[in-house]
Amino acid sequence: MNFRQKHILGLEELSSEEIKFVLDTAESMKEVSERDVKKVPALKGVTVVNLFFEPSTRTRASFEIAEKRLSADVLNFTPSESSVVKGETLLDTARNLEAMGASVIVIRHSMSGAPWLLARELRSSIINAGDGSHEHPSQALLDLFTVREIKREIAGLKVVIVGDISHSRVARSNVWGLIKLGAEVRVVGPPTMIPRDIEKTDVKVYYNLDSALEGADVVIMLRIQKERQESGLFPSLREYSRFYGLTRERLKRAKEDVVVMHPGPINRGVELSSEVADDVHSVILNQVSNGIAIRMAMLYLVASGGGNG
Ligand code: CP
Repeated sequence: MNFRQKHILGLEELSSEEIKFVLDTAESMKEVSERDVKKVPALKGVTVVNLFFEPSTRTRASFEIAEKRLSADVLNFTPSESSVVKGETLLDTARNLEAMGASVIVIRHSMSGAPWLLARELRSSIINAGDGSHEHPSQALLDLFTVREIKREIAGLKVVIVGDISHSRVARSNVWGLIKLGAEVRVVGPPTMIPRDIEKTDVKVYYNLDSALEGADVVIMLRIQKERQESGLFPSLREYSRFYGLTRERLKRAKEDVVVMHPGPINRGVELSSEVADDVHSVILNQVSNGIAIRMAMLYLVASGGGNG
């Protein structure tokens, strides 16, 4: 197939064929990362700007490595050291970067919808690196890639997503992707963290972690955003951990070959115990490694297809 998308903004708007095509492209990109010389000229002469308005370790570093492996010219834009602090708007900032030759902009922003604004107003290709509590497509794609690599087939798998579903862009993108690829998706968390209208979708809702884990193939733990603790979504971290923290004992309810995932950063002892984070079921660092191949695929596909090529 030809990948016709100029932007990658969310998994809601990608078809199952397009998602599979990104995963297949990432397999070739992973092969590049396993060579002695981890570089190809695919984006030679293309300028990519990483525009991160929120902190990031994995996503930002991974996009930068991916861009360099594709031989792009890379600019890491730091809003706190720019004219943004003098009041320049997001759109003016992005337009100025485009005027300097940026043809792909990777954006992370606290406002849901910010990448769509840039996609509408600019000529550049836009990649969403996480917008508010809305979507985090590169994270979900690398999660799908990791699951497919281990389990071979995503259709029919029982995938449990645990935690603050309401505020999680990782959960939202994963739900779209997993459902489109035919998985059974179970979400579990305190009632205050489950969106009210989710029952109308194909997702199965649980409030009890032990029940949700029965026969699970994959468990995706979400970060507890400690900054939200103030808003009273649950009484205390200790209480949350008691009911929704993943331990070795609890994991016995899942299938023997269950894989445990987490997008990072991990709060050890809150979402999951250290022994679960580091044991044989955990593929958390595989996710991080696979993030480079997925982001190489995303960059390559938007830069070479979708009206740019
Ligand atoms: N998973 C994820 O988005 O991590 P960072 O915030 O470190 O990029």
